[in-house]
Amino acid sequence: MGKARLKLPEDIAKFVEIENCDDFDLDKYFKTQTQIDIINDIQKNGERCKELAEFGVQYVNTTLLYGPTGTGKTTFVRFVAHTLEKDFAYVNFSSLMEDGFGNTERNLKKVFRYMTALDCVFMIDEIDCIATSRTASTNDTLKSITITLMQELDYCKTHAPKAIILAATNVVDNLDPALLSRFSIKKEIPLLNNEEKLGFVCKYMNSMDVPYDVDQVREYIARNSRVTQRIMEQDIIRALISWLDNSKEGFVTLSAYQNY
Ligand SMILES: Nc1ncnc2c1ncn2[C@@H]1O[C@H](COP(=O)(O)OP(=O)(O)OP(=O)(O)O)[C@@H](O)[C@H]1O
Ligand SMILES: [Mg+2]
Repeated sequence: MGKARLKLPEDIAKFVEIENCDDFDLDKYFKTQTQIDIINDIQKNGERCKELAEFGVQYVNTTLLYGPTGTGKTTFVRFVAHTLEKDFAYVNFSSLMEDGFGNTERNLKKVFRYMTALDCVFMIDEIDCIATSRTASTNDTLKSITITLMQELDYCKTHAPKAIILAATNVVDNLDPALLSRFSIKKEIPLLNNEEKLGFVCKYMNSMDVPYDVDQVREYIARNSRVTQRIMEQDIIRALISWLDNSKEGFVTLSAYQNY
């Protein structure tokens, strides 16, 4: 991995992982049309923010990605950073959580203000860990943290952030509608369709230059309609191990660890 363009002070670095994505493995990465569209939207939105500011309209480039676990949300944001040639700054929401009155809110505010002022792709991952519906939640602390996150998104409106801000969650239905409404772009990252799954597996296999049978991959996909990229990747690695155990005899043959 190359050296990150940005250097963070210690009190921020303990919460934020920063990566240079110049070496992102494009050979293995399968892009969908949805993903290309999202990147275009993010880029267009960045330009619109500046134009709208001239009309006195405050609009912020914030995107919420949602979808089942393993569909590639976090990996996609790395790909965004690679495409836009910016550092990938990653904070998992749970790392901000700290016991003691107001500590989590203070961490969130500090990290958010510092990071959004930098030229980077800033990802706040797994926001579902705090952002349960205010009305459904009985926990005052969670409510207060959710409110802080909303305040920080509002703060951005008046302080033109340099960062491109993306958040991700598995469970959009449980999110507070007031929080949801603060994101300019909301996009689902769904399961791949069968054609895309085939494209994903073939790209992965080709990148390793190993022998495989496309019809066998088609069968695997037809039998396991709910597989995500994470599961397919695990099945590919298991298949690769068996092939190596077999002294590289025959094809790398996919079989599901369980039926999906
Ligand atoms: N488009 C893709 N091309 C190649 N590999 C991918 C792609 N998308 C995801 N992967 C691989 O699948 C795995 C799971 O992806 P990732 O962790 O990004 O999913 P996620 O949606 O963030 O999951 P979670 O909701 O559990 O955080 C990763 O190891 C990644 O390498
Ligand atoms: Mg993730």
